[in-house]
Amino acid sequence: MMNETLDLLRTRRSVAPHLLADPGPTAAELDLLLTIAARVPDHGRLTPWRFIVLQGEARHRIGEAIAAAYRADNPTADAAKAEFERGRLARAPLVIAVVSRAKPHVKIPEWEQTISAGAVCMALVVGANAMGFATSWLTEWYAFDRRILDALGLAPDESIAGFVHIGTPTTPPVERPRPVMSDIVTRF
Ligand SMILES: Cc1cc2nc3c(=O)[nH]c(=O)nc-3n(C[C@H](O)[C@H](O)[C@H](O)COP(=O)(O)O)c2cc1C
Repeated sequence: MMNETLDLLRTRRSVAPHLLADPGPTAAELDLLLTIAARVPDHGRLTPWRFIVLQGEARHRIGEAIAAAYRADNPTADAAKAEFERGRLARAPLVIAVVSRAKPHVKIPEWEQTISAGAVCMALVVGANAMGFATSWLTEWYAFDRRILDALGLAPDESIAGFVHIGTPTTPPVERPRPVMSDIVTRF
């Protein structure tokens, strides 16, 4: 019962964004990743999510907005901290923001639309790892900050399901403790 897909799913680990270097996915790999991610289960076929691709200079432009919001909230913080905030989304060569567009619907619960966006993030993670890249699915404070959501162009009823960071790992990840299956599995 062993194959590459099972091995990947069994051993996958996140790699912190500062350890994700060039090269990132090519244009063709990025297209494939987005196509894979848009194939997740989606009750009612509402496509309750969308993508914002952050690459190259665009990562620094959003970094300006993140640093400005940080400085406004922390006027006494030292310059190095603001500089770190500026570079937040510029650590990995590619960041894909997965935007949830879940909203009330006559038939499909909003919760189901929301978790479909989580499936999108995971499909990006698995797909990118299958291509030989490593990933980090993060939100951080700016995923919940209206100023940053405005800068990214999110509507008031949209949310960030994740910033999926993708790149080539500079350091192999170390395993972390995993749930004890008997703690989380019961039989009904
Ligand atoms: C929706 C979501 C948001 C997350 N946001 C963060 C985050 O902001 N910062 C962080 O350190 N980890 C965050 N994580 C956790 C990492 O993605 C990752 O799961 C964790 O570092 C454990 O590594 P593993 O994927 O190898 O188990 C988030 C996970 C999810 C599902």
